[in-house]
Amino acid sequence: MNDLPPEPEPGAEAAPVPADHPDRLRWNAKYEGGAAPSFRPHPLAVRALSEPPPRGPVLDLACGPSGGALLAASEGRRVTAVDVSETALGLLGEEARRRGLGELITLVHADLAAWTPPPRSFALVLCTGFWDARVFGPAADAVLPGGLLAWEAFTLDARRVRPGLPAEWCLPAGAPASLLGGAFTVLDQRDVPDTRHGTKRRMLARRDAGG
Ligand SMILES: C[S@@+](CC[C@H](N)C(=O)[O-])C[C@H]1O[C@@H](n2cnc3c(N)ncnc32)[C@H](O)[C@@H]1O
Repeated sequence: MNDLPPEPEPGAEAAPVPADHPDRLRWNAKYEGGAAPSFRPHPLAVRALSEPPPRGPVLDLACGPSGGALLAASEGRRVTAVDVSETALGLLGEEARRRGLGELITLVHADLAAWTPPPRSFALVLCTGFWDARVFGPAADAVLPGGLLAWEAFTLDARRVRPGLPAEWCLPAGAPASLLGGAFTVLDQRDVPDTRHGTKRRMLARRDAGG
């Protein structure tokens, strides 16, 4: 993919995240205190990129130090990577520059509850390790016709091993596929059991070419 579009990255503008935003504080502390990131791409990112999506950019929501963003960029795609933690974005940006991919990845520091992606703009919208029902609809709207939506998050069942996990961070039965309108075909939705960390659900769907 060498014929990259010259226009500015879609959705690069974002309102400043308040310094005392609880998610920002919590995740910055985790990334500052944690082990060095592996930058290993999430299996769902690998699967989605191998489908493959049509030509066009990738949106990685709640990206963290995302190996998926790096993989997509290494395949010549432009990536918009959004996270509330500037520490995570810093780690991702540093690794992208080290790999010579810095130009392809636009880092967006934003609270996803306050940031909306532009509609019909991305060949792949990816989100792993995050669920907020308010974010899902606009994320699905951001998928180009023929493009892919890939999501993984904890299910409500995960609260059996992680009782502290708020219900609103967990997928209810059937979601997220059940929340998609008729414009999508679900390619796969499955539970990924994990008796130690909690069960997650993984979904891959394609927006119909005329959708
Ligand atoms: C479990 S990590 C997942 C990171 C990465 N997607 C992955 O699969 O490894 C959750 C990510 O969501 C981000 N996050 C949490 N709340 C957020 C919010 N309100 N807006 C944007 N990102 C948020 C965190 O900073 C963190 O990077």
